[in-house]
Amino acid sequence: MALTKKENETNGAAAKAKYDPEFTDNVIAATGSKAHPRLKEIMPSLLRHLHDFARDVDLTIAELMAGIELINEAGRMSTDKRNETGLLCDILGLESLVDEITSKLLFESRESGAITPSTVLGPFYRKDAPLLPNGSSIIYTAPDTFWYLQAERWLTHLSGRVLSASTGKPAPGAVVDIWQAGPNGLYEQQDPAQPDMNLRGRFQTDELGRYALYCVRPAAYKVAPDGPAGRLLELLDRHPYRPAHIHFVITAPGFRTLTTQIFDREDMYIKDDTVFAVKNELLVSFEPCEGDEKARWTVKYDFVLSEA
Ligand code: BEZ
Ligand code: FE
Repeated sequence: MALTKKENETNGAAAKAKYDPEFTDNVIAATGSKAHPRLKEIMPSLLRHLHDFARDVDLTIAELMAGIELINEAGRMSTDKRNETGLLCDILGLESLVDEITSKLLFESRESGAITPSTVLGPFYRKDAPLLPNGSSIIYTAPDTFWYLQAERWLTHLSGRVLSASTGKPAPGAVVDIWQAGPNGLYEQQDPAQPDMNLRGRFQTDELGRYALYCVRPAAYKVAPDGPAGRLLELLDRHPYRPAHIHFVITAPGFRTLTTQIFDREDMYIKDDTVFAVKNELLVSFEPCEGDEKARWTVKYDFVLSEA
């Protein structure tokens, strides 16, 4: 049963009284006058929360060592292709929360209702995806491969516009950087069956702010279950799935860069994303596509950017 704020405060005070009541103040006071200004500002709060947590749960040395080993293992596993420590933050909801805080700070003084919300970047972004003409495909596998045959019934035409939040006018010359996992739930760098940069591309909007491309209808996928983040999910009796989504970074001269995703509203995990990144404004419907032999599905989505 959740405790009330008052009960929490009473428990916190009791836990503090049990242990050296001056300990945390002493640790905070060790910060020197030449400390980095932002650290000077945030470390007292971090230390208080961290120490209160240890006291509240009567953390043992064995438990602390297990936590340290988990983080060490995540660090050892992390490479330029896999960010296990980032994944730990994601499954704890930290990247989604910090994304919300950052966008609130950016848009505090503005009307943010019309702006497309941001959401987490995730660990699979790669810079320098191929720059492609509008109307082309981000599928680079040959049509006679098993991968392509599996993907064929999910071929999707995606199009829309990039618009200004303040004027509603199109943003020509915006770059729509897109990446996604295949229908097998794997990103190109996780899947030997996909060529380099498969399902990644950059498209520049035309004079009416329009972009258009072919991709695949995505599927829900498991975030890497074979590392400490996966083990933690299991210990917490949580599932490892992300609902089907497509990632974007949208850049345009004079506008704030937008990092976001669109989500298939019909996905069974849409209300239960293991990294807590879904927002209502980012839900889309994949409609059956008629009259285009290159696509079985069609989706339209407009991105609305805030001025820089
Ligand atoms: C992703 O969508 O690629 C992702 C985001 C957070 C954690 C793991 C994967
Ligand atoms: Fe993803």
